[in-house]
Amino acid sequence: MENHWSEFWKQGHATTFGPYYKEGYRGVIGDWWEVLLAQMQPGESVLDLGCGNAALLVNLLEKNNQIRYLGLDLAEVRISPVAEEQIKNLEYPPQLFSNCPAEKIPLEEASIDAVVSVFGIEYSQCELTLGEVSRVLKNEGRLNLLVHHRESNVTRMSKKAVDEYQEEEIESLLKALQTIHQVIVSEGVKGLKASAVAENSRSLVNSLASKYLNDTDLQTANGTMFEFLSHALQFFKLIRKTEQDRADFITNLRVEFHAYKGRFQEMVSVAKDESGIHEFQGLCKQAGIEVLECKEIYDEKGLLAWQLAGKK
Ligand SMILES: C[S@@+](CC[C@H](N)C(=O)[O-])C[C@H]1O[C@@H](n2cnc3c(N)ncnc32)[C@H](O)[C@@H]1O
Repeated sequence: MENHWSEFWKQGHATTFGPYYKEGYRGVIGDWWEVLLAQMQPGESVLDLGCGNAALLVNLLEKNNQIRYLGLDLAEVRISPVAEEQIKNLEYPPQLFSNCPAEKIPLEEASIDAVVSVFGIEYSQCELTLGEVSRVLKNEGRLNLLVHHRESNVTRMSKKAVDEYQEEEIESLLKALQTIHQVIVSEGVKGLKASAVAENSRSLVNSLASKYLNDTDLQTANGTMFEFLSHALQFFKLIRKTEQDRADFITNLRVEFHAYKGRFQEMVSVAKDESGIHEFQGLCKQAGIEVLECKEIYDEKGLLAWQLAGKK
């Protein structure tokens, strides 16, 4: 099965928050990272666990391009186009490890000055990952993390996205597109009107479109289905294109939206409550990492994450 994060990163996003932070992290997360960058010495190395499309690289290149950036992710990732433009002629070219679990870091022991992670480490088996973090960190090496909080807005929005996902309607719409596609293959575009199954499928699509696209009331609108329907309607631009184009469109739509649900479900399940973060701190200690600080942090919308700082 396709990794549901690979599906996301292949769209070129710069961060997990897609269009919200499309130029790299700003605001509270950007500030947190820039303070850490300011404390680093030229030539030092930083390993970003669960890095996505090298989410932290953009700020690094803006603020301190004398730092060696290494990013590792279980998904297929790439350097986002935003960062790509800035990496030419760097003294320390960034290094990305795709399809690579944080539980098995492909680096030598005591080779890294700092390990960071923004909503990444908690997706892995933390007891194994922290053992690896301790192994690759130099003595006195730093660990700085932002970890999903069970009560944060991100978790609340992720839960909402999962609840909004209407599996049956999504499946029936995909089936309707498939039917229309088949009729075009066998009867041609001209045969659509005369085909009862194609007409029924079209009216199902229309009724779902008016159900979800006409609701602009923020209290009741279903953002997930709005996005799905907006995307699905692009199919009708392809009716005169090739059979392959339409078949690929339907397959991609299915894969993309299954992955969408998978990502939000996972975000919710890895978020830590008070006892989860307490347990995590215990694992740090067991791995030989001293926790210097662990607190809740907030942005203008409310609770954002757990922020943890530690040292080997
Ligand atoms: C919420 S995203 C965060 C990405 C990035 N840090 C950011 O802030 O945009 C979580 C990332 O963790 C990765 N991930 C999940 N399990 C992992 C593991 N065991 N090892 C390494 N990365 C993992 C996912 O593939 C995904 O890219």
